[in-house]
Amino acid sequence: MYGGFRGNIVELYSMYKIVKPNVILKCVKCGQIYTPKPRLFLCPKCGSLIDVIINVEEFRWNKARERRFGVWRYRELLPIRDEVEPVTLGEGGTPLIKLRNVYERGIVDSRNVYVKFEGANPTGSFKDRGMTVGVTIAKYLGVEGVVVASTGNTAASTAAYAARAGLRCLVVLPQGGVARGKLAQALLHGAEIKEVEGSFDSALEEVLDKVLNEELSGYYPLNSFNPWRLEGQKTISYEIVDELGTTPDFVIVPVGNAGNISAIWKGFKELYELGLINDLPRLVGVQAEGAAPIATAWFRGLTEPLFIDKPTTIASAIRIGRPINWFKAMRAVKESNGFFVTVSDEDILNAMKILAKYEGIGVEPASATTLAALIKCVNEGKISRDDLVILVATGHALKDPDTVFRAIPA
Ligand code: F0G
Repeated sequence: MYGGFRGNIVELYSMYKIVKPNVILKCVKCGQIYTPKPRLFLCPKCGSLIDVIINVEEFRWNKARERRFGVWRYRELLPIRDEVEPVTLGEGGTPLIKLRNVYERGIVDSRNVYVKFEGANPTGSFKDRGMTVGVTIAKYLGVEGVVVASTGNTAASTAAYAARAGLRCLVVLPQGGVARGKLAQALLHGAEIKEVEGSFDSALEEVLDKVLNEELSGYYPLNSFNPWRLEGQKTISYEIVDELGTTPDFVIVPVGNAGNISAIWKGFKELYELGLINDLPRLVGVQAEGAAPIATAWFRGLTEPLFIDKPTTIASAIRIGRPINWFKAMRAVKESNGFFVTVSDEDILNAMKILAKYEGIGVEPASATTLAALIKCVNEGKISRDDLVILVATGHALKDPDTVFRAIPA
């Protein structure tokens, strides 16, 4: 089994200075332990993905709260050494907005629902949480640039953080498959753009192949097979608990490449294991009907996804047929006693309009899947009216104006 390029001597030495001494890497499947290597993405023993494990000595909310609300408030729980100055644009610290009007108007029969509005991040999506950590590592490794495959948001975020760090940025995109706001951001921040035929899956395959074959050794990859990036994304959970002071009953998350739901579960589990919360939430992973390789497998009781070649959905951010983090995500949802749901494009557009029109929250279609899923779950009795529910609204409405114009002709 090919373990991948793990970093040259300079990078290995740099990594030692970037990452805390109490951090190890662990294979998600076979459990093999490794010392931190910047380019160890697949377990050399079994080929599975890797998790970052931090042996946290102490974390106190009071001390953390002396810092700004955002990703770096939780430094003790992040793998980066205290003396390393992060590449940051002030990411995280996003609003947790309680829905009011949809219940009162009888549109959603659930009265304890909050939207974690990730559209309020610097580039308008949750990806910034991962990139502040990922690009910080890239900068101090001394690489020339960073590279990602993307349905758009990862590209926009990587381009901005690379610009901030003074690094080159190469983004590989599915031709015609990226919403215009995201493409504009990648261009504006100076990314080099390469388009490939097919879906996001072809773009990711190209990046992963090149990384494993060491063809891109000057570039550091920041897709979600990079476990360091997911460390930033787990702070969504820390912030929810920090602000609510309790654990929600359900957290509903859109699932594409399945990295974010895995990171969110890791965040909650860490708080639980540190004794900082007494309960864990149930996770609900949402996929669009035409791009549901994990959810359809779940419905059939399978333990592996049913990959699809031509994913279709209006929610281009999650138009993914071969999610690389499927194992982590299925394990997370199972461990949490949660489940997967699919929603139709019609339901997605409807939910997007409801959030925007009745609550003033403008999200892109992928994020609207969470409200569509909530409505479905409440109707089916899977979530009850009084449950405390978080909808992770992953990206801003401005990302995809064309879909808005199609849904609501001017
Ligand atoms: N929501 C939005 C707005 C996204 O951009 C993505 C992923 C997801 C949800 C799903 O997150 O992949 O961790 O399961 N966008 C990636 C990208 C694929 O390239 O921007 P996931």
